[in-house]
Amino acid sequence: MEKRAHAMLFPFPCSGHINPTLKLAELLHSRGVYVTFVNTEHNHERLRRTGTAGGLHGREGFRFEAVPDGLSEEDRRSPDKTVKLYLSLRQSCGPPLVELARRLAESEGVPPVTCVVLSGLVSFALAAAEEISVPSFVLWGTSACGFVCTLRLRELRQRGYTPLKDESYLTNGYLDTPIDWIAGMPPVRLGDISSFVRTLDPKCFALRVEEEEANSCARAQGLILNTFEDLESDVLDALRGEFPLVYTIGPLAAAMHHRVDRAQGQGAAGLSLWEEDAACMAWLDAQPAGSVLYVSFGSLAVLSLDQLAELAWGLAASNRPFLWVVRPGLVAGDRGADALPGKFLAETKGRCFIAEWCAQEQVLRHRAVGGFLTHSGWNSTMESIWSGVPMVCWPGFADQYINCRYVCREWGIGLLLDEQLRREQVTAHVEELMGDTEKAKEMRRSAAKWKALTKAATAPGGSSYENLDMLVEVLRLHEPADAELAGAVTHGAQ
Ligand code: UDX
Repeated sequence: MEKRAHAMLFPFPCSGHINPTLKLAELLHSRGVYVTFVNTEHNHERLRRTGTAGGLHGREGFRFEAVPDGLSEEDRRSPDKTVKLYLSLRQSCGPPLVELARRLAESEGVPPVTCVVLSGLVSFALAAAEEISVPSFVLWGTSACGFVCTLRLRELRQRGYTPLKDESYLTNGYLDTPIDWIAGMPPVRLGDISSFVRTLDPKCFALRVEEEEANSCARAQGLILNTFEDLESDVLDALRGEFPLVYTIGPLAAAMHHRVDRAQGQGAAGLSLWEEDAACMAWLDAQPAGSVLYVSFGSLAVLSLDQLAELAWGLAASNRPFLWVVRPGLVAGDRGADALPGKFLAETKGRCFIAEWCAQEQVLRHRAVGGFLTHSGWNSTMESIWSGVPMVCWPGFADQYINCRYVCREWGIGLLLDEQLRREQVTAHVEELMGDTEKAKEMRRSAAKWKALTKAATAPGGSSYENLDMLVEVLRLHEPADAELAGAVTHGAQ
């Protein structure tokens, strides 16, 4: 048995959580930490089928394990599948995690688990860490401002801002109410705080879950954020008043390039729940520099048929080449590209590429891509900032509203689409983003500035680089003492 820090990482089982957690896992591994990455059995099987985990298997000191998620096949097809998954994990997944950690401690050649790293939404696993007496860390998958807004949901409720009195409050200007009392943040609108402020239900399940999950991070030894100091310095200063140990190590994509490529002479591996379309890269190769709009709404968003049609015709009228990820399930009724309006493909032939899923980081770094129409999920936002690509934002869920607010107002790299999607506005914004107006040039200059700052933050001596070192040092403090090892060996031999 080795004396070595061993991190057991467990993300909430969706791409927006798996991707950053996996990157963190690889970064820790590249710094000598033994890593166990835990998926649900369902995703483990999906990943085996897409074959994307291949590059990670068989690395010394990096293992994949799986625990059941407790969902039935019927639950998986339900429109509420994410809520069902959340509840099911919370109810049944703690004991298998504890059991797994104990089994690992008894496996030959595997050091005992010395810390647990979770993504958001799986706070039940903090109890698993407590049960095996190791410290826990939470990689909360949003920006610092997204995290702070989630923490403040409780106060908004207590101060009477939410729930909304009736449906008219969604459209009567109430969501524009200024909120100027959140420490570290500039004045924002109530509607920017989160999708969850739009509820009429005093017992809104999603709102309570978000509140509870964010506040429960206080039980962890440290909070890890996929952001960097220069990007959110004010809000980070304020946050550290409540959470003293905040490790900003982002953008994770950039950090990976500094650490993993150089240290191991190999590219960053990825886990993809959908098969990546390689042909879109060849299509991009054939497009002029900066000409292509990339369009994607992440792994969870679901569009109505009307929204899909507004987008499709808005893009078609822009006359710009675009690469659009229409994943299976993007459209209500578990539909995908089959739901695109008739004649759309014919009318955009030659300048439209529809992919089910793609290697987004590579796409955003491709020289042909000049803009990103996004739902403002935090991973996508960070990947876009890292790539220096300005955005048209159409947020719809959770932290996406505040990410979008910062992108457009604080960082100067985006344009906001109205909640009610209209094809004319889609066309106008895409033309503005990709065109040559002063505003477009200014956004491009700002995007280039932030891109340079991400590079500096993740390079040796940069804030994210140093914070990652500090995090690894802290994990090493919990490496098992020799006496514990001897105990574990004896126990293992019984
Ligand atoms: C979720 C939440 O919706 C979001 O609000 C929160 O900030 C993070 O968790 P998701 O909606 O999936 O995430 O969006 P996002 O955070 O942008 O993550 C999507 C990930 O999938 C990105 O890492 C992106 O690179 C990847 N992706 C997306 C691909 O690899 N290929 C694609 O074709 C599309």
